[in-house]
Amino acid sequence: MTDRPPLAALFPGAVPADAGLAAPVVQDRYLCGGTLRPWGGPHEDVISPVWEPAPLQPRVIGRAPALGEAQALEVLDAAASAWDRGRGEWPTMPVAARLRCLEEFVRRLRSAREEVVRLLMWEIGKNRADSEKEFDRTVDYLRDTVEAVKDLDRASSRFALEQGIAGQIRRAPLGVTLCMGPFNYPLNETFTTLIPALVMGNPVIFKPPRFGVLLFAPLLAAFAESFPPGVVGSIHGDGRVIVGPLIGSGRVDVLAFIGTSRVASLIRAQHPKPHRLRCVLGLEAKNPAIVLEDADLDLAVAECVQGALSFNGQRCTAIKLVFVHERVADAFVARLAAAVDALVPGMPWDPGAQVTPLPEPGKAAAMAAFVEDAVARGARVANARGGESAGSLYFPAVVDGVTPAMRLYREEQFGPLVPVVRFASLEEPVQAITESDYGQQVALFGRDPAALSALIDPLVNQVCRVNLNSQCQRGPDSFPFTGRKDSAEGTLSVSDALRVFSIRTLVAAKQTPANTAILEDVLRHRRSSFLSTDFLF
Ligand code: G3H
Repeated sequence: MTDRPPLAALFPGAVPADAGLAAPVVQDRYLCGGTLRPWGGPHEDVISPVWEPAPLQPRVIGRAPALGEAQALEVLDAAASAWDRGRGEWPTMPVAARLRCLEEFVRRLRSAREEVVRLLMWEIGKNRADSEKEFDRTVDYLRDTVEAVKDLDRASSRFALEQGIAGQIRRAPLGVTLCMGPFNYPLNETFTTLIPALVMGNPVIFKPPRFGVLLFAPLLAAFAESFPPGVVGSIHGDGRVIVGPLIGSGRVDVLAFIGTSRVASLIRAQHPKPHRLRCVLGLEAKNPAIVLEDADLDLAVAECVQGALSFNGQRCTAIKLVFVHERVADAFVARLAAAVDALVPGMPWDPGAQVTPLPEPGKAAAMAAFVEDAVARGARVANARGGESAGSLYFPAVVDGVTPAMRLYREEQFGPLVPVVRFASLEEPVQAITESDYGQQVALFGRDPAALSALIDPLVNQVCRVNLNSQCQRGPDSFPFTGRKDSAEGTLSVSDALRVFSIRTLVAAKQTPANTAILEDVLRHRRSSFLSTDFLF
């Protein structure tokens, strides 16, 4: 053990002024039909991962509505009227007008930065630097979306002439879209589906994740004031109560869900015609790193620590299993253990805090159970502080000597554990990746181009991103983000998202003199927003 203070001593008696909340934060409205409806029914307490000290216990920081089925269906009715079977104001609005609404929303969103950042710290325990990064990255994403929509529109502002047929091909909206983001990126990963869906002309209903609910409160008014009635609606509460009836009604056309494949399958199965529900899914992953015997070990350690443990390993893209060649395993594990023990635990607002409280109740115990299973089957915890725990804090553990017999070999831990598997033959990691239920990314560490190439070619057909001497990650947001098997459905990126929330639709005519005259008339008099060659500057 080190001489650093015990984890329990880190929970704050007093909170610095620049991190405080006006507690309790009462969120008692939901967005329906363009207005913020007051909710006088039951609420759910919002419990922060930042526990109260002495005695150490969960801290209630506010409350949010626990809507019932009736309210969820009202929000659906409002969205369905805004869609109006594709004839509503929003789905037929010219792109330039939709972009003006989005730009107005971005302006309002920016002014909520500090409030949202503080709520991210309090609700999910993300440190200040990463909370600010999440906010700023989201604003950048929206700004880049505006440009991507313009590009898409410009490319569609012309006719294709083929085999005597003239056609104008555009992307059209799909219908009412339900967006559900995850707790680890509640703002970013809700908005990276919600905004592209919206801007393509789909009315959107969103449900905040289990943790990261209150941070949407300041944004509800911004939605109401930026978009026409019914175009954005919010539902809050228990998914089993409010999501089932929406999907079961058959009136949701698109589901954008970031979470587990188990829940995604349950939701999808509730649709009366599941084949009609377009799904865009970001699901679990078990991204491995493979450290070859010629790897730069300092670099591999730095990338694995960052890749496995930023935001306490609670990223779908986190490195969740490290395969290391047995010839360098002792050196690698020793350096990895030292680097992990050097991480700074603290509260989200503490300067430099890297290990912060975990929002899911019972998460520390769940991590301990993974370690216990591995140790009982012959693994060992390699770092001195590994597994130290107090309340919602759990110090990351490097678990060395993991084998296929252990849960950590296959199951996604989604938390602060770094399982290490020692291998003699590259066949072992390649086989494990091939047989895994997951297929998002892999990180390869080595110097020899021939050895790396021998891995790249088999692995690109197992995962969707092979990272060389770099941790796994989603960004930059212009790169495609997806996965195979149980890891994803559909591809997201600034431009791909515009495609997944729309469908190619065209108007085509044989090039007869009469048809040409009709087309020319429509264009000259700007009679249609679809059939148009106007250029969006
Ligand atoms: O949790 C999954 C996120 O999409 C990961 O994004 O790699 O930028 O942290 P990130």
